[in-house]
Amino acid sequence: MIGSYVSIGPNVRRIGAAHPLSELSLHPFWYNPSLGMAHVDQDVNRTEVYIGDDSWIGANAVILPGCRRIGTGAVIGAGSIVTKDVADFSVVAGNPAKPIGTRLTEDERTALMEIKPWSHDPMEAHRLLVAIRARLGGADNAGHRQTPDANNPST
Ligand SMILES: CC(C)(COP(=O)(O)OP(=O)(O)OC[C@H]1O[C@@H](n2cnc3c(N)ncnc32)[C@H](O)[C@@H]1OP(=O)(O)O)[C@@H](O)C(=O)NCCC(=O)NCCS
Repeated sequence: MIGSYVSIGPNVRRIGAAHPLSELSLHPFWYNPSLGMAHVDQDVNRTEVYIGDDSWIGANAVILPGCRRIGTGAVIGAGSIVTKDVADFSVVAGNPAKPIGTRLTEDERTALMEIKPWSHDPMEAHRLLVAIRARLGGADNAGHRQTPDANNPST
C-alpha cells in the first residue's frame, strides 16, 4: 500500500519474497504454484510493504521482503538496499540501509503527525504546511510557492 504524496525515484524495486534458503533446492519449481509443480500450500511467504505518506524513495533503491513499513516522511537514499522497517522521518542510506539522520525538529514532526497535511488536497495541504511553519517559525520550507495555481499543483 502506498500513502499520499509519496515520491518514488526512477528504477525503485520492491522484492516481496525470497527463495527458501532452508529447502534442499532453491528453484521456484518447488514452491511457486504458477509454474505447475507446487501446490499453493507450498508457496513461500509473500509480503507487502506499506509506504508512508510524504516519504521519498531515491533512485535505484531496492526494498527487500524484510522491510514491511516505510514511515511517514521517511527518506531512502539513492541506491539503498532496504532490509528493515524505516521509522517515521528517518533518513536511511547504503547497503544495507542504515539511519543517517532524522528529518525536522521534534515539534515539526509532532505537528505534522497531528495535522496530517497529506490527508488533504494540494491546496489545503499547502495551507496547512504554511500554517505549521508560521506557528513554529524557522525556515520557510513549507513547500513550494505561497500561491500555487489550483489548476496546476506542480507550479
Ligand atoms: C539520502 C539523501 C537525501 C541524503 O542527503 P543528505 O542529507 O544531504 O546527506 P549527505 O549528502 O550529507 O550525506 C550524509 C552521509 O550519508 C552518506 N550518504 C548519503 N546518501 C547516500 C546514499 N544514497 N547511499 C549511501 N550513503 C549515502 C554520505 O556519504 C554521508 O556519509 P558520511 O557522513 O560518512 O560522509 C541523498 O544522499 C540521496 O540519496 N538522495 C536521493 C536522490 C535521488 O535519488 N534523486 C532522484 C529521485 S527523485
